Amino acid sequence: VLVLCCGGVAVGGWALARGGTDTVGQVDFVRPLAVPPLAESRVDERGRRVFDLLARDGQRDFHGDGRLTRTAGFDGDFLGPTLRAKRGEQVVVNVVNRLAEETSVHWHGMHLPARMDGGPHQMVRPGATWSPTWTVNQPAATLWYHPHPHGQTEEHVYRGLAGMFILDDDREAALPLPRRYGVDDIPVIVQDRNFSRSGQFKKTRNLIAGIGVLGDTLLVNGTVGPYLDVRTERVRLRLLNGSTARTYDFGLSDDRPFALIASDGGLLPRTARVDRVRLSPGERAEIVVDVRPGERVTLRSNPPELGAGALADRFAGGADRFDVLQLRAADTLAGSPPVPETLAPTERLDPADAERTRRFTLTGRSINGRSMELDRIDETVTRGATEVWEVTNRDGAPHNFHVHDVQFQVLSVGGSAPPPAWSGWKDTVYLAPDRPVRLIMRFTDHSDPDMPYMYHCHLLYHEDAGMMGQFVVVEPGQRAGRPPRSSHHA
Ligand code: C2O
Ligand code: CU
Repeated sequence: VLVLCCGGVAVGGWALARGGTDTVGQVDFVRPLAVPPLAESRVDERGRRVFDLLARDGQRDFHGDGRLTRTAGFDGDFLGPTLRAKRGEQVVVNVVNRLAEETSVHWHGMHLPARMDGGPHQMVRPGATWSPTWTVNQPAATLWYHPHPHGQTEEHVYRGLAGMFILDDDREAALPLPRRYGVDDIPVIVQDRNFSRSGQFKKTRNLIAGIGVLGDTLLVNGTVGPYLDVRTERVRLRLLNGSTARTYDFGLSDDRPFALIASDGGLLPRTARVDRVRLSPGERAEIVVDVRPGERVTLRSNPPELGAGALADRFAGGADRFDVLQLRAADTLAGSPPVPETLAPTERLDPADAERTRRFTLTGRSINGRSMELDRIDETVTRGATEVWEVTNRDGAPHNFHVHDVQFQVLSVGGSAPPPAWSGWKDTVYLAPDRPVRLIMRFTDHSDPDMPYMYHCHLLYHEDAGMMGQFVVVEPGQRAGRPPRSSHHA
């Protein structure tokens, strides 16, 4: 159902705009791309890698014209440092909340105990510190972190609270891939924003499509109009769609193919040569781009074809073309080895081993007709189980699906084999209308009958509005317990 409305209506501090998206033309690439610093860490007497992460308000002049935008960030004014840890390490993150309101910090893509997950049951009060700890036990990957307060996630992420979390392992380290952070291995956090005339983030929701904010200005690592000086023949870009609602279809300005090497949960089994990669909110991809001496080539988001003329096609960002990042190759480039064809051969989970199939239907603002309740467990999973989750977008609006705690494999999309981009581990998947996506996942450990994990649409407006559910992992034969009745303080 389409709701038409006249502009200027405000609901809960958010303006509602009539639908329609702008095509954004060429950007002047006038600023060097900001690269988030690597977070400092120390190893404590118990051998744990300890990070400090401080959430606070800030302000920033994004356009270089003196207008200061009110923002929030971790350890700075906008976004946060890149956390980095190795498989096998035990990490501790001291999350300090210096905001004027409560928030949480969720480790998106991380396999960890539910009490450490940073969802709406691990709220951190203003002035408080929350110190989750866990052992990294998953492959090298590009993960990220962001707040997850129930009903407020869109607001907190939009203001700037997010950052990357890179995991390393021996297999990845043994491959000839670019990996000098900030030199030939670059985080690329893509977010869209609207600015008011005074330079404030404008919270204009796209009402006709009902999908939340679609901004007309791209920020890449917080930079408007960014370029990157490239000094090597190959550059690895860790793309993160950190937007609240918009889907991008990344490609290069001359449509040259590039090497797609990783998805959300780490390296693909084999390198895929593609000329486009689509990322819906929350998804990541690592690509390696070949450049020639002296050239300029632009990373773009082209209008994606998402779902055969459905609303999703027109409003998931599909109408818009954005210039994202200009790569400026030096006249002399240092050599880079070719990208290997074989990356990380992965065990394929077998549907024959699945204990059961669960079905999830997304419509409106609910999943299986239910809206998120913090004190209701929707699904109970047994530790050790392999399960198939079949997820369907039934209302034609843009949606995707994210599961906490696990990385899954995609078995099929609308009955067909998934594209190469979905051949590896993922935690978030785009849902084209009426094409059931079959996912397979294994819940290896971390049982806790009382503390749920989330699954939800990662269009944050939908998530906040209730398109989210909770599951617990229990021991064989155990029953689900009682989740905390409301947002629960860590
Ligand atoms: Cu990135 Cu439940 O979220
Ligand atoms: Cu949705």
